[in-house]
Amino acid sequence: MITLSDKGFAGEREDRSGPLIREMLEEAGYQVVETLLLPDEKEGLMRQLMRLSDQRQVNLILTTGGTGFSRRDITPEATIAVCDRMARGIAEAIRGYSMTITKRAMLSRAESGIRKKTLIVNLPGSPKAVRESLEFILPELSHGLGILRGTEGECAR
Ligand code: MTE
Repeated sequence: MITLSDKGFAGEREDRSGPLIREMLEEAGYQVVETLLLPDEKEGLMRQLMRLSDQRQVNLILTTGGTGFSRRDITPEATIAVCDRMARGIAEAIRGYSMTITKRAMLSRAESGIRKKTLIVNLPGSPKAVRESLEFILPELSHGLGILRGTEGECAR
């Protein structure tokens, strides 16, 4: 998982979203192999997304932060740039569910997509948004990851 935060990277703000993602993933049975804290820079994020999917070949990369409207928010652009195929349903689902909690969810430009056998999902930056987003999508992710890895067949009909 990757936290995108200029302030976090500079040591001016504690990253609470990263540890929360780790905790929620581990609770759901995932093994977290890397946690990164990066500044809001497109090239640097792209490089890490490519390394984690091509070399480390992780099943899932979750990012937090950098999905909003501020000039430095580039997480969605870096994600689109490295994905072979978008899987926008996940980002749509997060926004749809989040809209039932706060209409400000419409302000997240988060994306989701696939690079090789790795699923990349953007989450907004605040711990509140992370919790709300993850608790909604986590139960369904493992089926998608199984199909992506070829360990799970077609959906039951
Ligand atoms: N989604 C959920 N579930 N809960 C929230 O509180 N906050 C929104 C939105 N998505 C929010 C949410 C707000 S206020 C913003 S500005 C955007 O996410 C972008 O956040 P980011 O720039 O930290 O990525």
